[in-house]
Amino acid sequence: MTNKVTKAIFPVAGLGTRFLPATKSVPKEIMTLVDRPLIQYAIDEARAAGIKEFIFVTSRGKSALEDYFDRAPALEEELRDKGKTDLLEVLEHTYMDSGAIAYIRQHRPLGLGHAVWCARRLLGDEPFAVMLPDDVIAADTPCLQQMIEAYQETGGNMVAAMEVAPEKTSSYGILDVGDDDGQVVRARGMVEKPDPDSAPSNLAVIGRYILRPSVMQNLEHLRSGKNGEIQLTDAIAADSANGEQTHGFRFRGQRYDCGSKSGFLQATVAFGLARPELRDDLRQFISDMGQIERAAQ
Ligand code: UTP
Repeated sequence: MTNKVTKAIFPVAGLGTRFLPATKSVPKEIMTLVDRPLIQYAIDEARAAGIKEFIFVTSRGKSALEDYFDRAPALEEELRDKGKTDLLEVLEHTYMDSGAIAYIRQHRPLGLGHAVWCARRLLGDEPFAVMLPDDVIAADTPCLQQMIEAYQETGGNMVAAMEVAPEKTSSYGILDVGDDDGQVVRARGMVEKPDPDSAPSNLAVIGRYILRPSVMQNLEHLRSGKNGEIQLTDAIAADSANGEQTHGFRFRGQRYDCGSKSGFLQATVAFGLARPELRDDLRQFISDMGQIERAAQ
């Protein structure tokens, strides 16, 4: 088996209920941070890490996501006529090579593990990445690239990991921590969304994974787990139980949970402040808001 990672699965078939009513007609992954949809941040991160094939697991109502990567000839012509080459470049960046992108349907939202399993026929005997676009990670070296570099040394399975407040363990997959060298952690196992009193640690799995083909095979036989869903965490834990190594990787960067309203708003502010053309106005606005809030107290 090669240890080169060139394929990534993007499971985007969830219902996005935390953003209703918006997600009634707009896929969560198309919602924008400043001016780019969440999915573009994930694609850019995957490209930087050397991913060549992009597999989307979609569902009913996600056609805006599929259209997003298409060429837009009428718009291009209009921009060309008006000499707007900067905007043409922006568009160019959203296009994917022919054949580089595939869409698979998950017919029912049976869980993240099930969504990943839906892509099984597009993978061979090779490791693959899984990226959840609602975890947006701002980093000097993109998170998946950091992981792939570390993975060349470790092999096995690798998950992005981050310490969370102990009372938050029930929102995450949590690692049972073995040897820990600071950046790379040997995981003895992992548990999906444990209560704080039964959690093996507070080291949580974030939405970036590099997985062995055997995890896909484990998904084949998996029954539903926590919340009645087929859990990716359980398939990785089964690999560890079979003696395969799984590592947690403490990435360098700031993660925003854009699947939650609060995380999405925080990311909007942070990515806005990171834009030179927006920074001054936004900073002034935040400061004014702070003063108004304090005066009202
Ligand atoms: P979430 O747990 O955030 O669920 O899924 P969700 O449906 O997107 O959002 P809420 O909780 O209802 O607001 C994490 C990731 O797994 C995908 C989602 O699209 C998201 O990228 N997923 C989840 C699937 O593709 N299929 C599923 O059956 C479940």
